[in-house]
Amino acid sequence: MIKSHKMTNPISQNRVVISGVGSRVPEKILTNDELAGMVDTSDEWIKTRTGISERRIAGSHETTSDMAAGAALAALENGKTDASEIDLLIVATISPDTAMPATACYVQEKAGLKNAMCFDMAAACSGFVYALDIAYQYILTGAAKKVMVVGADKMSALINWQDRTTCVLFGDGAGAVILEQGKGKSLGIMASSMKSDGSQASILHIEAGGAAMPLTPENITEGKQYITMEGSVVFKSAVRSMSEIAEEALAKAGLSSSEIAWLVPHQANKRILTAVAEKLGISMERVVINLEKYGNTTAGSIPLALDQAVNDGRIKDGDYILFVAFGAGATWGATVLQWGRE
Ligand code: UT7
Repeated sequence: MIKSHKMTNPISQNRVVISGVGSRVPEKILTNDELAGMVDTSDEWIKTRTGISERRIAGSHETTSDMAAGAALAALENGKTDASEIDLLIVATISPDTAMPATACYVQEKAGLKNAMCFDMAAACSGFVYALDIAYQYILTGAAKKVMVVGADKMSALINWQDRTTCVLFGDGAGAVILEQGKGKSLGIMASSMKSDGSQASILHIEAGGAAMPLTPENITEGKQYITMEGSVVFKSAVRSMSEIAEEALAKAGLSSSEIAWLVPHQANKRILTAVAEKLGISMERVVINLEKYGNTTAGSIPLALDQAVNDGRIKDGDYILFVAFGAGATWGATVLQWGRE
């Protein structure tokens, strides 16, 4: 049943819905015990401090665009949509196949989205909600009719496998959604809020490999091509920012957190998700969590979790859903929607 809504937002007449969803993860599983054989850590530490038990790792020839295209094809099938109908493709990633061209162009070719305009979104773990927000605006203005939004990351390529403070957290994977104008059976996207704070850039970043510090044998030896993170600073900022932005988006949508059927958060750390859910007053039974099996897949994490919760029947038509993410930048954002494909 589609629930009634309290929203007075004038754009509610122009409904934008998610009409297809899909995901793709690599086959190879890396367990905590295997990691404990590589760095000074333990299954017990990783589980207790993060909630993660295992993660997927892409093969050496398996690229971000391969996973993204796999997720996009799954979303096309799920949404009964022909590839030629997609007129905009946004790939959210911070592990592009190449610095140039955009990974979205490779995905276009691999998924056969021949009529799509393609570009990448670099907003790290918030990339999916940022890209969703842009797709929403394109559809509202009539500039695009069917948009494919993919979140995909091959984090294994950006991790220093000797750094126990980061290598235990991340995994590889991709998820995708198709957005289009709804037919009025559900409200679709109701509200969103997105924020950035460049003063936090250094707490989670990769120093070398961009134009400011091109790769050299020296900085490769020093490991500057890998992610570095001030874990506890990121942790506190993530909890505060995710809960504040979720409250803001809920207020814009005219909903209270008690009306949210499912919180689908960026899968950063189970302790972060527990703290955010508690601040919002959402019980853990209503939080979609899959990080125990996939870790933090950065831009892939929300659409991957969404795909699983839709396809195993947890998310039902009419449910109010809340996405919330925090990532490098710092960037953060939240989207409120009512689920339903039409
Ligand atoms: O998606 C957005 C990006 N990232 C995140 O959201 C991650 C946010 N941060 C976190 O999830 C947590 O800060 C971590 C899981 C990274 C770390 O947990 P923590 O509870 O903040 O631990 P900590 O950094 O304060 O470190 C506690 C101890 C330290 O040892 P000492 O100094 O107390 O002796 C670390 O050296 O744990 C040690 N430690 C480890 N021990 C075993 C750090 N990493 C590990 C490890 N195994 N993998």
